[in-house]
Amino acid sequence: MVRSAPEPRELLDIAIEVARDAAATAYRMRAEGVSVAATKSTVTDVVTAADRAVERQVLDALRRLRPGDAVLGEEYGEAGTGPAGPDGVRWIVDPIDGTVNYLYGLRHSAVSLAAEVDGVVVVGVVRNISTGEEWTATAGGGAWRDGRQLRCSTETDLGQTLVATGFGYDPKRRAHQARVVAELIPHVRDIRRLGAAAIDLCFAAEGRVDAYYEKGLAAWDLAAGGLVATEAGLRVAGLGGAAAGPDMVVAAPPALFGPLHDRLADLDASGGP
Ligand code: IPD
Repeated sequence: MVRSAPEPRELLDIAIEVARDAAATAYRMRAEGVSVAATKSTVTDVVTAADRAVERQVLDALRRLRPGDAVLGEEYGEAGTGPAGPDGVRWIVDPIDGTVNYLYGLRHSAVSLAAEVDGVVVVGVVRNISTGEEWTATAGGGAWRDGRQLRCSTETDLGQTLVATGFGYDPKRRAHQARVVAELIPHVRDIRRLGAAAIDLCFAAEGRVDAYYEKGLAAWDLAAGGLVATEAGLRVAGLGGAAAGPDMVVAAPPALFGPLHDRLADLDASGGP
C-alpha cells in the first residue's frame, strides 16, 4: 500500500486548533477553581481534574480530525492504533505542563502538543494557558511566536549565561539536581526555575533565557518545546553524544553548548537517581 505522509503544515494547523481549544478549557477550569484530583509518582506530583479533562478533549479532537493516528499523552498513556498510525503519525500531548504552577495560579503553564511522523517530531505547539502566548515550529520551517520568527541567544560566555532548569518530583533525584545547581551557579549569570519545561524551551528559543537543561523529562515535556528550540537555532541533545531524552536535555546556543555540556558532565548531572 502506498502511504502519503501528511504535510507538516496540515498537521500544524490541526495542532494549533486543538491546542487553542485545550488551553481555553484549562483557562476556564482554572477560573472555576482547581484542586488536586490525584497524585502520581510522589505526593508532590499532582494531577488536577483539568489535566484529565484537557487531555480527554485533545484525544477526542484528534480522533475526529485524524482518526487513524496514535496519541501518547501524560495522563492516559498510549491511545489509538499503536506506536504510530497508518500514516506514521503519533501525537504527543502534555495537557498541562507546569501543573504545580497551574494549581497555585502562577502564570507559567502550557498545553504542549507535538506530532511525530515515523518517530521524528515534525510539528510542535506550546500555548501558555494564562497569557495566550503561542510558540509553533515545523521541522525545517523555523520557530515562531505571533508571526515573528525566533532566534536563540547569541551569548557565547558561560559566565554571562542565564540558565533555566527544573527538578523532578522524586526527593532523592531532587537532592542530586540541587547539588548540581549549587555547583553550577557560581559559573553562570544566574539560574531560573520557572516550572514548565515546555515553556522553558520556548523561552530559550527567543532568548528570554540563554540555555536550559534538565534531567528526567518525559516525551510530552520535551517534544513540542524541543522542536521550537531546535528550529530557533539551539542545539538540543543529551550528554556524551546521546540524544536528548529522560537522562538529560541540554538546549543551548551552539557556542554555549560545549561549555555547558562539559560542566554538566563533570557534575554528573545525568547521574544519580
Ligand atoms: C513538570 C514541569 C517542570 C519540570 C518537571 C516536569 P508537569 O511537568 O515541566 O518544570 O521541572 O520535570 O515533570 O508535571 O507540570 O507536567
